[in-house]
Amino acid sequence: MKTTLDFPVSRTTNSKLASVDFSNLVFGKTISDHMFVADYKNGEWTDLRIEPYAPLQLSPANATLHYGQSIFEGMKAYKNSNGEVIVFRGDANWKRLNESAQRMCMPQLPEEIFMEGLTQLLDLDRAWVPTAKGASLYVRPFMFATDDYIGVKPSETYKFMIFTCPVGNYYSKPVSVKVETTFTRATEGGTGAAKTAGNYAASLYPALQAQKSGYDQLLWTDGKSHSKIEESGTMNVMFKIDGKIITAPTNTGTILKGITRDSVIQLAKDWNEPLEERFLTVKELESALIEGSLEEAFGTGTAATIAHIERININGKDYILPQKSVDAFSLRVLSELDGIKYGEIDDTHNWVIKI
Ligand code: COI
Repeated sequence: MKTTLDFPVSRTTNSKLASVDFSNLVFGKTISDHMFVADYKNGEWTDLRIEPYAPLQLSPANATLHYGQSIFEGMKAYKNSNGEVIVFRGDANWKRLNESAQRMCMPQLPEEIFMEGLTQLLDLDRAWVPTAKGASLYVRPFMFATDDYIGVKPSETYKFMIFTCPVGNYYSKPVSVKVETTFTRATEGGTGAAKTAGNYAASLYPALQAQKSGYDQLLWTDGKSHSKIEESGTMNVMFKIDGKIITAPTNTGTILKGITRDSVIQLAKDWNEPLEERFLTVKELESALIEGSLEEAFGTGTAATIAHIERININGKDYILPQKSVDAFSLRVLSELDGIKYGEIDDTHNWVIKI
């Protein structure tokens, strides 16, 4: 692997690799041996390093703990049939991290630091990349404020870090969702498009209420009228109605610009599948469910991949979706994306980065 940035790498003397049961991976529980760290101070990123994964020491006055200046990304690395480690669309994650950083008043991170930190970490921990189909190494880059100061203002210092976790599927079975019409995830002018910690914190209470009633996730609606479908808690969502795929647009600032979402839109274009980026109203969704014109509903996300939705609750009424047909669009995109990631299908869009 060619490297363009030279920084210290301190290897663990106590690898946990041998103790990991790769046939039984729970999402997010197992963390690989090393982490990449960079510090931001005096207006620049310094002290780049890879070190053994370990807890951080934080001051109780740490600004993130109080005011939530914190952003993150999620991406995945795979091992292809030649044993090579590849990462999917890491450059897109870097761009989105910087969009989130701008909204949250945090510093921009140069592409070279992001990509070199990522590739050198993956190179070092390549033995952690699972080989089983469906399994992958989830990569979590994140940035947070480190000022020890509890006045409300943007921090002057930050940390950028990356760690990785071998994972299986986020959803091991089809998903049940409830259309949320009381609580709000995002409103225009807010932070909905940013991948920032507070968005997830604010979603926990409403999601928990739905989970207590037997649903896996919410389908969020717009904050003003609660009449238009936006996204789900862990993924963007798409619906196929009367042969047309419909997904919410990202120009309102309320929807996360999902990289899997973008990849699926590109594949739909490649295959001349009709796809509309527009808001589907709750009424339209309900009518399609009643009339039987809803052919498919699925989530798209890095962790969730392509998650089939099997049940939707609207205003207290449950609707069961049709079984997936063998030629379902969601199955075709899942298999195409897997094929590209595992090096079995030509990567015509240059989505794959070899480590
Ligand atoms: C991802 O898909 O990478 C996410 O960040 C969603 C979730 C696990 C918070």
